[in-house]
Amino acid sequence: MNLLQILTAASPLTFAEYMDTVLYHPEQGYYNRQPIGFQGDFFTSASGDGDFGELLAVQFRQMWQILGCPSEFTLLEMGAGEGETARDCLGAIAQTDPQCYAAIRYVIVEKSPQKRQSQGERLGGHAVTWQDWRDIPDQSLIGCCFSNELVDALPVHWVVSQDQQLQEVYLDITPQGIEERLGPLSRPEISAYFTTLGIPFPGPTYPSGYRTEVNLAALDWLQTVARKLKQGYLLTIDYGYTGDRYYHPQRHQGTLQCYFQHRRHNNPYVNLGEQDITAHVNFTALTHWGEEYGLQTLGMTKQGLFLMALGLGDRLAALSQGNIPLNQLLQRRSHLHGLIDPTGLGGFSVLLQQRGLTPEQIATPLRGFATNPRA
Ligand SMILES: C[S@@+](CC[C@H](N)C(=O)[O-])C[C@H]1O[C@@H](n2cnc3c(N)ncnc32)[C@H](O)[C@@H]1O
Repeated sequence: MNLLQILTAASPLTFAEYMDTVLYHPEQGYYNRQPIGFQGDFFTSASGDGDFGELLAVQFRQMWQILGCPSEFTLLEMGAGEGETARDCLGAIAQTDPQCYAAIRYVIVEKSPQKRQSQGERLGGHAVTWQDWRDIPDQSLIGCCFSNELVDALPVHWVVSQDQQLQEVYLDITPQGIEERLGPLSRPEISAYFTTLGIPFPGPTYPSGYRTEVNLAALDWLQTVARKLKQGYLLTIDYGYTGDRYYHPQRHQGTLQCYFQHRRHNNPYVNLGEQDITAHVNFTALTHWGEEYGLQTLGMTKQGLFLMALGLGDRLAALSQGNIPLNQLLQRRSHLHGLIDPTGLGGFSVLLQQRGLTPEQIATPLRGFATNPRA
């Protein structure tokens, strides 16, 4: 069966169910068919040179030290894409700190079977295990759970204000095509989401027809991580806004976007299984529900500042002193600049939460969150 047939058999669907199917169907879904990176439809900080994973490694080593150099320190990567971060990060720790490397238990939680396979092919000799959440006992993890561009890839409910009533987008799908219709909310948590965050949607300040997304899957994910983490950090890197900016009355078409062959557009009903669909992350929701689930927010910064504080500036400086051919130098410089460009990857948010740390551990500033990158 092709995707349209699969969707037709399951119709009608909420938009969230539709997005889950077109992205993650075990055979036909986007993440099981298309690569991430320059040959795919979009690239991430992990694509290309290894700087992103190598600089994260600096942060993870410090976390391990803050926790007292335990003999087992779990790095749990969620949504590991093509496996570059795991490879680069483990490679850097192996080189710089064998004792830390020996303590690391690197675990990947990955939804896509195809991505698990390509991660396995990229890891070289590094030991990594793949686990499902149900196999990880509650309150068992000591270490750091982290993700890059996971939360933006979770399926979202699409909602519309109609005459100040909250309606949800449903899809009627036939072999002839996909038709949207509005209906009552599929889950009461959707309206509770706005009430809890104090966002007056769909009140009078929002025009009729205002459309936006609600990422309930992000809250489920957060609750799961909080349940599994015994002592350590949760580090979330992604693009997004605080709640008030996300749901600003002027953002009347929301943030949903699609990527097809490195072009961005806003039609999720074309290129079925061949294009990515994403929505920005509401970081206020992550901090608010994080606190509810027992995750204390320790800091939030931008990726550009975060990576500079971890040593990206030194890499840039070293380039001009090195003796490498000009074309390679320009390529390296452009890659490094890309990671910190405030209008691109450098503008991503980096959220740090913790659970189970002692007051002394909480008070120890993490290097990536130093306000002065040279400090
Ligand atoms: C946009 S990609 C980012 C990949 C990688 N972190 C990077 O920076 O290149 C999202 C990744 O999350 C995975 N994913 C999506 N939903 C997931 C879930 N609920 N649990 C685990 N992995 C998930 C996807 O299969 C994919 O590997």
